[in-house]
Amino acid sequence: MVPMSGDATRPWQRLSSGFEEARAREDSLDRLVEWPAQRELLGDVTGLSVLDAGCGNGAKLAQLATEGAVDCVGVDLSENFIEPPRGVRLVLGDLSDLAAVPGLSGRSFDRILFLQSFGYAADGVAALRTARSMLTDDGFILLTRTQPVRHALERAEQNGTSLGEEYFSTDAFSYRHRTWDEHVTLTKRPYTMSDLLNTFSAAGLWIDTTVEPQMAADLAERYPHKKAVLDRYLGILMFRLRPLQTPSSTAAR
Ligand SMILES: C[S@@+](CC[C@H](N)C(=O)[O-])C[C@H]1O[C@@H](n2cnc3c(N)ncnc32)[C@H](O)[C@@H]1O
Repeated sequence: MVPMSGDATRPWQRLSSGFEEARAREDSLDRLVEWPAQRELLGDVTGLSVLDAGCGNGAKLAQLATEGAVDCVGVDLSENFIEPPRGVRLVLGDLSDLAAVPGLSGRSFDRILFLQSFGYAADGVAALRTARSMLTDDGFILLTRTQPVRHALERAEQNGTSLGEEYFSTDAFSYRHRTWDEHVTLTKRPYTMSDLLNTFSAAGLWIDTTVEPQMAADLAERYPHKKAVLDRYLGILMFRLRPLQTPSSTAAR
């Protein structure tokens, strides 16, 4: 079954600065593995418009703008933004309904990003349907999400239960990230791989590419403690999603 309500979002008002500090560290998995893989999946962004849903401080979008992206918008509810460069607008808003964010009604984008932010949508299917409706003809969504096995394994270790019990549990769970801010508790909804894949189908999207990025050998040698994290908890999943072309949507063109 596709879960209909997302992770609680309010703690992000407190968590965002700790998250950004952790992300900026030389040995963060985002810097070593995730952002390079996300960047590769995006390809050449010259002349393309990008919407970053749950953009954090907006630094990734700013980099894309320096690499040629135009008319970029970042949306986040923590409002802990950098000074945006030319061609980038950073807006306070909820990614659950991107079309309702100030200035976005009627707009379309070549690339829409949900980078480790999709779980916070109040209704994942609705959020993706809206994003799909905002894509240009050749546009795609880049969505990344933590491997569900990682959360299940962590909970199994904490609770003395089995991987399967936790993986298939449907109870919300509390989660604290030690390197972001150990005092802030996030409430998360578990999901399985089938939940995730069914969400994409229900939103009328197909998966063009899936990537499970791992650490390059030289980086693994330099940062063995981070390689050990990936070896145990697998890391994150990345999907390039495109609109399914139904006979009616093709005829409408
Ligand atoms: C794990 S961070 C990822 C940030 C960024 N996308 C990245 O890849 O570094 C999740 C982000 O989602 C934002 N967020 C959480 N719930 C949100 C919501 N309902 N609407 C908009 N942003 C939200 C948080 O404030 C935070 O910046």
